[in-house]
Amino acid sequence: MPDSKQAPTILVVDDDAEIRYSLTRVLSSHGYQVTEAASGEQGVAMVRKGPVPHLVFLDVRMGGMGGIEALQHIRSANPRQLVVLMTAFGTAQTAIEAMKYGAFDYVMKPFDPAKVLSLAQNALKAHADLRAVGDYKPSVNPDDYREGIVGNSPVMQDVFKVIGQVTASDVTVMITGESGTGKELVARSIWKHSHRSSKAFIAVNCAAIPDNLIESELFGHEKGSFTGATTQRLGKFELCDGGTIFLDEIGDMALATQTKILRVLQQGEIQRVGGTETIRVDVRILAATDKDLEAMVKAKTFREDLYYRLNVVRIRMPALRERTEDIPQIVDFCLQNLVKQRKARVGKVAPEAMAVLVRHPWPGNVRELENVVYRSAVIAQGDAILVKDLPVEIGGGSAAAPMPAAVMEESSASAAAAAVVDITAALDAVYAAAKISGGGALEFVEREVVTRALAEAGGDAAAAAKILGITKAAVQKRAKGA
Ligand SMILES: Nc1ncnc2c1ncn2[C@@H]1O[C@H](COP(=O)(O)OP(=O)(O)OP(=O)(O)O)[C@@H](O)[C@H]1O
Ligand SMILES: [Mg+2]
Repeated sequence: MPDSKQAPTILVVDDDAEIRYSLTRVLSSHGYQVTEAASGEQGVAMVRKGPVPHLVFLDVRMGGMGGIEALQHIRSANPRQLVVLMTAFGTAQTAIEAMKYGAFDYVMKPFDPAKVLSLAQNALKAHADLRAVGDYKPSVNPDDYREGIVGNSPVMQDVFKVIGQVTASDVTVMITGESGTGKELVARSIWKHSHRSSKAFIAVNCAAIPDNLIESELFGHEKGSFTGATTQRLGKFELCDGGTIFLDEIGDMALATQTKILRVLQQGEIQRVGGTETIRVDVRILAATDKDLEAMVKAKTFREDLYYRLNVVRIRMPALRERTEDIPQIVDFCLQNLVKQRKARVGKVAPEAMAVLVRHPWPGNVRELENVVYRSAVIAQGDAILVKDLPVEIGGGSAAAPMPAAVMEESSASAAAAAVVDITAALDAVYAAAKISGGGALEFVEREVVTRALAEAGGDAAAAAKILGITKAAVQKRAKGA
C-alpha cells in the first residue's frame, strides 16, 4: 500500500511518448507524482517491483503486451490496484473486457484534461475510501437469521412475537403492509414453525391469475367443464390438503371467488369447477394484501364476512422507513448471502455509503433495498461498496456528488494549461493541412477561422466579427478572399 502522506503517485503506461508527456504534464502540474512506462511489460514490472502507485493510467493498444493483458497482470500482482484504461478505439469488446478484469474506469482518447483530472480525483477518493473501510465487521451473522427475517427494531420484535403466538394453532392470519415489507417471508415463517411444517406451503398470487382461471386454479376442474378443460385437474386447495395456503394479494380477488373462499373457511370444503362432488379439505389459510381492506369493505368490493373470517389475527408489517435502525443489518445480511451464493465479491460497505442507505425513504421497502445492495455490490470495483457505487436515484453515484468549488476552479485552470499543451498537436495538424492545400500556414488558419466564425454566427458578419475580435469590414474583406 502506498503511504497516504506523500503526494499521490500515478503511473502512466503508454507506448506513445507524446501521450505520456501530455498526461504527465497535466497530472504533475496538479501535485501528482507521475512515473512513466513505455510498454505494458515495463508497466507490469514496475507495479510488481513496487512501490505500488495509487493509480495507473494504462493504454489499451500498445506494441508488445496490450493493455488488457497488462491489466490482468497488474491486478493479479496487486488485486486492489486502481487502473484506468485509455483507448482511441472504443470497441464494445475492450470496454467490456476492461471492466471485467477490474479496471476502475475506461476513457477515450483524445482526452479532455479536466476529465483526466476528475478521473484521477475520483480514483484517489475511491482509494482513500476503500482504505478507510478497513476491517469491516458485519453487524449480523446470517446463521442467526435462518428465518431470513432480519430486524432488531421494536416493531419487528413485535412481529416476531405474534408469529410465535400464531404458530401453535391453525388460526387464519392476515398480513398487511406495503409492497416489499416481507409479508410472504412472514407467512413462510409461520408455516415453518407450525405443526404443518412437514406438509405443503402453497402461495397463490391472486392478482396474477385472471379472474376466469382463479377458481380452477384454487379448486380444480372436471374434464369438459369449460373450453380447454380437456382433463380433470386438481386445484391448489386439494393439492395442499394438510398444509398451508398463502393467498397473496387477496384484495385483488374477484367477489365471486371471495364467496368460495368463505365456504372453505366456514365449512372446510370445496367443489371443483363443473363438479358436483363436495370435497373436504384441511388447509390453513394465511392471507396478505397491501390494499386497505377496510375501505374495500366499505366500498363493497370486499366481502365483509370474509374480511372478518380472514382477519382473526392481523400482522401489520411496518414500512422500512419506520424501522431505519434495521437497515444496516439487512444490508449486511443481503451482502453476506450474495457473497455466499457467489453472486457478488464485495462484502463490505463504507460508512458514508451506509449512511446514504439509512437515509433513503425506500418506497419499495426491503425488496428495493435488496435490489440496490445487489446492483451496487456487482458494480463495486474494490472490496467495499462506496457512495459512488450506489444508484444516483438514491443519492449515490460519483456523477451526482457535486464537486467542491475549489476543485472545480482547479480543474478549469488546469484545462487552460493543458489546452496549451494540446495546441502543439493542433499546430502540427495545421502545418500538415496547409502543406496539402498548397498555401501558407497563416493564410490557411485565417481562412479556417473566419469560415468557422461565420458558420457559428449563422452568416452574420457583425456577430462573427465579435467572435474574431476584428471589425465587421475586416470580416467581410476576408470572407471575400476566402
Ligand atoms: N426483515 C427482512 N429481512 C431480510 N430480508 C427481508 C426482510 N423483509 C423482506 N425481506 C426480503 O425482501 C423481499 C421482499 O419480501 P416479500 O416478498 O416477503 O415482501 P412482500 O411484502 O410479500 O412484498 P409484495 O407485497 O410486493 O409481494 C424478499 O426477497 C425478502 O427475502
Ligand atoms: Mg408478496
